[in-house]
Amino acid sequence: MGRIRNLDDLRRHWDRYSIGYDRSMVRSERWLFADTRSWICGRARGRTLEVAIGTGLNLEHYPEGVELVGLDLSAGMLAGAKRRSGELGLDAELRTGDAQRLDFGDDSFDSVVCTFSLCAVPDDEKAVAEMVRVLRPGGRLLLADHVIGAAWWLRSLQRVIEIGSVPMGGEHFRRRPLLHVEAAGLEIVERDRFKAGLIERLHARKPELP
Ligand SMILES: C[S@@+](CC[C@H](N)C(=O)[O-])C[C@H]1O[C@@H](n2cnc3c(N)ncnc32)[C@H](O)[C@@H]1O
Repeated sequence: MGRIRNLDDLRRHWDRYSIGYDRSMVRSERWLFADTRSWICGRARGRTLEVAIGTGLNLEHYPEGVELVGLDLSAGMLAGAKRRSGELGLDAELRTGDAQRLDFGDDSFDSVVCTFSLCAVPDDEKAVAEMVRVLRPGGRLLLADHVIGAAWWLRSLQRVIEIGSVPMGGEHFRRRPLLHVEAAGLEIVERDRFKAGLIERLHARKPELP
């Protein structure tokens, strides 16, 4: 385990972590995330891009009719998603890529999904800007993440945790994707924040062209 200095280090970190990722998430899924995966994926429509799809823990929650493209920085994480997609009999297109530089044209998706990953992408503002770029006007941006806590003591704790988690795991605890989404001019259709403000999920809409 070493410090994360660049995207290659981050990729290697997630490749290593991919083996035990699903197991490591069981408690968080139960105690923190509640029904967030079905809340997010149930709102996806049409051609959908899932950014930083990881091992594909969202796959089983998409409704029929969603045509899914998933990307992740880590081939190790993606191998989990491919396995899961096969087990579920899905026809998702899964490929490696960088959330900060999406390899898709403007306005090319009806929905863009990202769960529990903007905490891990080096530049979350850039990643949100890319998601908005590839979303068609009127399309849905569906995000969920752990965010900066609502209470001062929680924010202090998160600040301390980040002293180790950012350099060693690229993991941020005091981010708030909502602010980037609002700054990008999207309309917030639904928003939900719970568990002392630690988890936030949102459905935003890219404005139609004038
Ligand atoms: C905590 S995991 C979340 C995975 C999945 N979204 C979920 O909900 O379980 C974070 C994921 O972000 C991916 N990631 C980190 N930086 C990335 C980047 N710049 N581009 C694409 N994926 C990235 C990691 O490889 C990892 O799979």
